[in-house]
Amino acid sequence: MNNILVTGGCGFIGTVFIRYLLSDSDFKGRIINVDKLTYAGNPDNLADIEKAYPERYRFIKSDICDPEAMSFAFKTYDIDAVCNFAAESHVDRSIAAPNAFIKTNIEGTFNLLEVARKYADRLVLFHHVSTDEVYGSLAYNGFFTEDTPYKPSSPYSASKAASDHLVRAYSKTYALPVTISNCSNNYGPYQFPEKLIPLMILNALENKPLPVYGDGRNIRDWLFVTDHCRAVWEIMKRGRRGQTYNIGGHCEKANIDTVNGVCEMVDELKPRADHTSRKDLITFIKDRPGHDLRYAIDCSKLEKELDWTPIESFETGLRKTIQWYLDNPLWVQRVKSGNYRNWIKQHYEDA
Ligand code: NAD
Ligand code: TYD
Repeated sequence: MNNILVTGGCGFIGTVFIRYLLSDSDFKGRIINVDKLTYAGNPDNLADIEKAYPERYRFIKSDICDPEAMSFAFKTYDIDAVCNFAAESHVDRSIAAPNAFIKTNIEGTFNLLEVARKYADRLVLFHHVSTDEVYGSLAYNGFFTEDTPYKPSSPYSASKAASDHLVRAYSKTYALPVTISNCSNNYGPYQFPEKLIPLMILNALENKPLPVYGDGRNIRDWLFVTDHCRAVWEIMKRGRRGQTYNIGGHCEKANIDTVNGVCEMVDELKPRADHTSRKDLITFIKDRPGHDLRYAIDCSKLEKELDWTPIESFETGLRKTIQWYLDNPLWVQRVKSGNYRNWIKQHYEDA
């Protein structure tokens, strides 16, 4: 893999993946980052990378649904591998307005597959990044394996499930070299503060209510984002073509325990003047419709075949995450005020 097309590289996980590949991994080639820059895409995230790696990093502001733009990228940059992160990614938004999820997650992936098929002679790999939410909800026992039937609950997870099916179909029908990864909930630096952990961190720091859906007993499996990115890279390098790999953190937590954990660590790293705990901000609110009870991943296939295991514990990962938000007030301010959109206008309006 010499020229990797990374889609959605200005989002949370894509940003960390590009930074990891260029700065901390054994990858020696070039990355072409295609991102539409939706509300969740922030080119600020990679401004230093653009300067540090002028020969090895290119940004193209484009939509993965645009066939001409994707063909242009494949052709111009001799793309030989794809890592598809681009997606609408937030369940609550998918409940409020599913259209963009169908468009980007399904049609966008379909379009990328069609373009990849056109350039199949030089394509080494199409890696598709997906979620454990495609499997639906677990009761209080059992784990998702790669053989668990798909049973998505939300428009988001249904659209990701559809995209996974398309990728698998292109592998079987057209012999496209693909891999798919289904990962549990990520947290870490650069995450847009609409997802549980960054929302709780920033609200806690600003003494705003911490909204917990339902009774807070829903369970998620948490993985620090760099551990996810390492897993994706290992799968891209050594994963068996045509295969799916689950990625998980061995870190199941009820939401209320996660929020209590965030409060305790924010209290430690940035105590209130009166030394009371932010836990007094926790507010139970109406449950999310179709709220999946529990996600839990069996990732033994990845661990056995590719010798991967998470490095960060929830304690070390959460500490790094909260410290990052404390250390980057400008990023937070820009993302929250939408100011970086002016930056996009100036730099990429006509790109
Ligand atoms: P994100 O919302 O932070 O970023 C998505 C990125 O995709 C943004 O930069 C956005 O501008 C870009 N994008 C959206 N529509 C686009 C389009 N039509 N064309 C080009 N770019 C477009 O999402 P994330 O949390 O970084 O998730 C990345 C991927 O990982 C997604 O596919 C998601 O389903 C998957 N995933 C996420 C998690 C998680 O916990 N966040 C867990 C498992 C899997
Ligand atoms: P989220 O970060 O949206 O990820 P996902 O829905 O993809 O798992 O939510 C994680 C869990 O936290 C989920 O069970 C819903 C819950 N949640 C809250 O209780 N309050 C919130 O404000 C948010 C955003 C999520």
